[in-house]
This record gives sequence, C-alpha cells and structure tokens, in this order.
Amino acid sequence: MLVHRTIADFRAWRAAWSGSVGLVPTMGYLHEGHLSLVRASKRDCAITVATIFVNPTQFAPTEDLSTYPRDEARDLDLLKAERVDAVLIPTADEIYPDGYATYVEVEGLTARLEGASRPTHFRGVTTVVMKLLQIMRPQRAYFGQKDAQQLAVVRRMVHDLNVPVEIIGQPIVREPDGLAMSSRNVYLTPEQRQAALVLSRCVRMAEQWFTDGVRDATAIRDEMHAMIAEEPLAEVDYVSLADAETLQEIDHIEAPALASLAVRFGSTRLIDNTTLTP
Ligand code: PAJ
Repeated sequence: MLVHRTIADFRAWRAAWSGSVGLVPTMGYLHEGHLSLVRASKRDCAITVATIFVNPTQFAPTEDLSTYPRDEARDLDLLKAERVDAVLIPTADEIYPDGYATYVEVEGLTARLEGASRPTHFRGVTTVVMKLLQIMRPQRAYFGQKDAQQLAVVRRMVHDLNVPVEIIGQPIVREPDGLAMSSRNVYLTPEQRQAALVLSRCVRMAEQWFTDGVRDATAIRDEMHAMIAEEPLAEVDYVSLADAETLQEIDHIEAPALASLAVRFGSTRLIDNTTLTP
C-alpha cells in the first residue's frame, strides 16, 4: 500500500492507472463503518484509494477540530489489511495553501438538519470532497448512510456540477448493542455510552411503527422526542421526519422518508437515522 503525503505524488502514481478507481474519503480514526466502504470499493473497483484528512473547513471554531481523535499508524494497518492500493494523507496546507479562496456551496438542502445546527459545515464538506474528486479522479466514491444528509448533499453537488463520478451509499454499521459506529463515540463516558443507545432505540421505534402501518410523521417525531426526554443525560438537538430527497419536514409518509436525529451527551453530539420506504 502506497502512502502519499502530497497531491503531486498521488497524481504521479494515479497517472499510471486506467482501470476503475474507487475513492473512500475519511477523517481517519477508522472503524468498521469506514472499512465497510473500503470493502464495497474493493468489490466494485480495480483500484481502491482512501484519504485521511481531518478537514478544518467543516469544523466551526467552537467544534472539536483540535481534539478530533487521530491514530494514523493504526489507520494505515487497517487499510493495509483491507488491501487498499494507496492512501493520501495531506496536510491542511497541502489542501488549503496560502491564498486559498474557492468554496463549493450546495443551497437549500444544506440549510436544514445538520446544516441548521452547523451552518458552515457542509460548505467545508462539499469543498473538500470536490477537491478530492478532482485530485483522485475516481469512477466511484463511497459514502456512509450514517451521514445521510452529507450523502444527499454530495449527490446534489455531483449532479449539479456534472462531476463524472458515481456516488455509492452504504448502510450504517452498528455496534452489537445498536449504537451507530462513529469516531466520536470514544468521547463518551461509560454512562453517556449507555445513554447513547437512545438514538438507535428511536430509529428502531420509527422502523417498527412504520412497519406496523403508521404513516403519521408527527406521531413518530413526537415519540422520538418523548424517548429522548426519558434519558436524563441526553439533550436533543433535532428530531426530524423529512422527505428523503428534499429533506423538507413532512406530515405524512407517502414517499421515501428520512427519520433522523442529533442528540448531545455533554459536549459530544451524535447522529443516527433510518430511511422509511413505503
Ligand atoms: P468520517 O466521519 O471519517 O466518515 C467517512 C465516511 O465513513 C463517511 O462517508 C461516513 O458516512 C462513513 N461512516 C462513518 N460512520 C459510519 C457507520 N457507522 N456506518 C457506515 N458508514 C459510516 O464523513 C466524513 O468523514 C467527512 O465529512 C468527509 C466525507 C471525509 C469529508 O471530510
């Protein structure tokens, strides 16, 4: 597995390959969720490349950029074990050199949910993803359904800007007790880790009610709120039942709907979601 630290090095290596390339962009501190994307790329593509870059532009000044967990040596071992062909680990200066001035912004979709709580977040995500697509020129790029809005925003960007890449979404990978895997789970105290199960309980409830025939979106949202209110360590950020494509809140489920929530445990903010398809 080749480890590139500069865009020029990566491009020189990339130039030799004409077969299908799959890209897995990450911020590192890898877990089975990330590795599921790597495996999907290995299955579909001749060459699999990954990036590890804790992208400063998607963190607000008040967020956890400086404390975001990192373990490059372990990440490289995990990627090597999956037989990833090459990894790009750029510095922030390599991606945003002095004088950097260009940003990609998707309107509308980014104003809601995560975007309402984190107003500058998606501008950072779309800018770095667009740059990585330009640098790496993959035929396919893999994203987790865990970040459902990110996936929708990236699909919108690629469609709107005619980027010749296929965006592939992959299901959420969970711990055995249901907690969605996240690099941020390491921040949780044992009590918060237990309380955090409320997210997957809410998701399972929404799925169960939907399976039982409930189509009243307000009833499902209200029940999610009630479940979170019963967990003293949990503080709700948002609870949503929205159209899966536009992310507009709905009253009734008539088309694929995204049930999603963000909940704080102390300073740690976790998200989870499920898609309900009539
Ligand atoms: P990061 O949080 O490291 O996640 C990298 C990819 O792994 C994302 O597509 C995310 O949705 C996926 N992922 C994370 N946890 C998952 C889980 N439990 N199951 C399935 N997939 C999971 O998302 C980012 O980084 C950044 O915003 C990035 C796209 C790299 C741009 O900086």
